[in-house]
Amino acid sequence: MKVLGIESSCDETSVGVVEDGKKLLSNVVASSVDLHAQYGGVVPEIAARSHIEAIIPVIQEALDKAGCTWDDIDAIAVTQGAGLNGSLLIGVLAARTLAVVKNKPLFAVNHVEGHIYVNFLTETTLEGYKMVGKQPEFPMLGVIVSGGHSQLVLWRDHFDYTLLGQTHDDAIGEAFDKVAKIIGMPYPGGINVSRKAEEGNPKAFHLPKAKMAGKYDFSFSGLKTAVLRLAQEQVGKDYSLPSLELPGLLNDGQKADIAASFQRVACETIVDKVLMAYEEFSPRSVVIGGGVAANSELRRQLAERLPSPVEYPDLKLCGDNGAMIATLGCFKAELAQAKADAYSLSIQPNLSM
Ligand code: KG4
Ligand code: ZN
Repeated sequence: MKVLGIESSCDETSVGVVEDGKKLLSNVVASSVDLHAQYGGVVPEIAARSHIEAIIPVIQEALDKAGCTWDDIDAIAVTQGAGLNGSLLIGVLAARTLAVVKNKPLFAVNHVEGHIYVNFLTETTLEGYKMVGKQPEFPMLGVIVSGGHSQLVLWRDHFDYTLLGQTHDDAIGEAFDKVAKIIGMPYPGGINVSRKAEEGNPKAFHLPKAKMAGKYDFSFSGLKTAVLRLAQEQVGKDYSLPSLELPGLLNDGQKADIAASFQRVACETIVDKVLMAYEEFSPRSVVIGGGVAANSELRRQLAERLPSPVEYPDLKLCGDNGAMIATLGCFKAELAQAKADAYSLSIQPNLSM
């Protein structure tokens, strides 16, 4: 069973081909990140236009790299949501058209579930990918840490899960991106804050952890505001100093210490709850997905505090990619999940778990 997966929810146009939900045959990513950098964040109209330009060549390259023609592809999977309207539309319309023209079954995939399912990939024919040792087992605790989501989800089996908790405001990746702006790190913020943090002292500053009514819920907006106040205080100003002026007044050491202290607390916030869920539900596997899964401090804290090891996707599979959509598509096809109607499938920008 070979499935071609199409992902276009944000600024990456990506297509992957996966066999039997475990073997990665190709994963092609075209990102418009450079076009957004000058604006300090993703501009939806630019993202949508870039998808239009990239989608057909990326699909063809993914087929070529997998050594496949359309005859070898058993099904098409596509991200239906969550994501940006214009971006999702391009992927979904391409998938619908191909499903009709090539006469293939079509499966609609939840982007966030895809981030977790990439952990089922254990083999590849591609160079430069480090695959997880074995497929996760159920019950499986899924930790989703991306730019749009921070969620803890307990899977009892495929397609049988409970959302334990989620963020009430900013996602952890969003908090990294906002802190990047406060201390003047270039876009994309998360990776640059984590690089700066390597030069700093993670215990330099005390920053608060939000206390939530829901046991497994998160909040990161208070932490982000605390970072802003800390930065203002460090340069001897009060809250009335516009955040835009901060990067020019902070020195390198202050920036590094703020980045390191923020990163430590943000990661601790996630790991505290992962540990609580681990103790309550005794999962056989703990898996992580989403852009922040690439963060080395998060990985370090999880390794240090969780009693059993966590397997991580290859760094190239942490961010948005078509392979994760194809992987979940394989399970949907193999386990006889409902097919999407290629003539009517619509996008769901606010799709939740
Ligand atoms: O999963 P993803 O590619 O897109 C969404 O579905 O949101 O996640 C992107 C997020 C961004 O907020 C980015 O800043 C963050 O992941 N990110 C990181 C790192 N790499 C990406 N955050 C912290 N440390 C990193 N190394
Ligand atoms: Zn994502």
